[in-house]
Amino acid sequence: MLRPNPKTMIYLDHAATSWPKPPEVMRAMAGFLESAGGNPGRSGHRLSIAAGRIVYEAREAVAGLLHAPDPLRVIFTQNATHALNIALHGLLSPGDRVVTSGMEHNAVMRPLRALEKRGVAVVVVPTAPDGTLNPVDFARAVMLGTRLVALNHASNVVGTIAPAAEVAQIAHAAGALLLIDAAQTAGVMPLDMQAMGIDLLAFTGHKGLHGPPGSGGLVLGEGVDAAQIRPLLQGGTGSRSEYEEQPEFLPDKFESGTPNGVGIAGLGAGIQWVMARGMEAIRAHEVALTRRLVAGLSEIPGVRLYGLADPQRRTAVVSFTVEGWRVSTIGLRLDEEHGVLCRVGLHCAPAAHRTIGTFPEGTVRFAPGPLTTLNEIDAVVDAVKQVVQS
Ligand SMILES: Cc1ncc(COP(=O)(O)O)c(C=O)c1O
Repeated sequence: MLRPNPKTMIYLDHAATSWPKPPEVMRAMAGFLESAGGNPGRSGHRLSIAAGRIVYEAREAVAGLLHAPDPLRVIFTQNATHALNIALHGLLSPGDRVVTSGMEHNAVMRPLRALEKRGVAVVVVPTAPDGTLNPVDFARAVMLGTRLVALNHASNVVGTIAPAAEVAQIAHAAGALLLIDAAQTAGVMPLDMQAMGIDLLAFTGHKGLHGPPGSGGLVLGEGVDAAQIRPLLQGGTGSRSEYEEQPEFLPDKFESGTPNGVGIAGLGAGIQWVMARGMEAIRAHEVALTRRLVAGLSEIPGVRLYGLADPQRRTAVVSFTVEGWRVSTIGLRLDEEHGVLCRVGLHCAPAAHRTIGTFPEGTVRFAPGPLTTLNEIDAVVDAVKQVVQS
């Protein structure tokens, strides 16, 4: 298979998964297999201890980046979907009420629709077509006996950032917990889960944290009693092997089975890479890219952009349609004729597309990353011009 060359293409699909991964990430993953290949937390020999150390260092890196109260409250999972499922299925029982927004990904909506069939009341608070949420509407919906508020921190369709800290106050005033889906914000913008009052935070490793697929996690805030969350899986943890019951302590309660040590090693290196570049610097660069992209695309006749105009209130995720054009045709021609790689369609978020008015066709979505340059953005705008004016 031909090795893809980043110099001959422009990769604008970081909201799906980041690419190319930093060389440090690949080195850390190979290093895990080469020099720390034991089963972490299981055996007492040196390779197991070395593996356990790498996993714990990654836990510390996650806790540091997201300001978690304790590395042991970081539960490693396969991805954000897995983390969200632990939180939703683990916390909600028939008769409970959960409030969410009209901008959610199916990683939230599908578990919620399944829970609804089992007697959980699911309330979806509509947002404005630009993805903004009205805190008054939200407060009204949360007031009445809500157990959990589940909220997308930033839309994977239009990038609109939700006021998580404000929603945390609303949730707590109503006695509810707040679960934040940070799939699109971890590693993309500064996040302090304690200062923001986030109770449960689901993240993925393979997007803004520049780790490999198969890595992610759920972080529990200090106020969350793990005893109230049922684990999705039970099994071996390497701890308390004398008991046939699942341990209750963290993170073991939710980490049954051999962990993805290779992936976790890569995730830890990805977080180190993000921290070395600086969270504020990454965010500032992506704001500049978004500004340039929105300005350039909005000058092309027939282009309709979705989401907020202000790049400070969104992530670098820009969706658009072009009058008279199928989004799939635009995506294909950008790839084949201009080497621009993006994602078209519904982005696993039909609810968000219904909200912005693009269901069922969807949009073309551009999602640059920290290494995308302003020159590349100009080239991409030019490519869109050439495609839709041909
Ligand atoms: C907002 C949002 N939530 C959840 C997910 C699911 O992430 P993962 O595929 O890593 O489980 C995604 C990924 O596209 C997302 O954008």
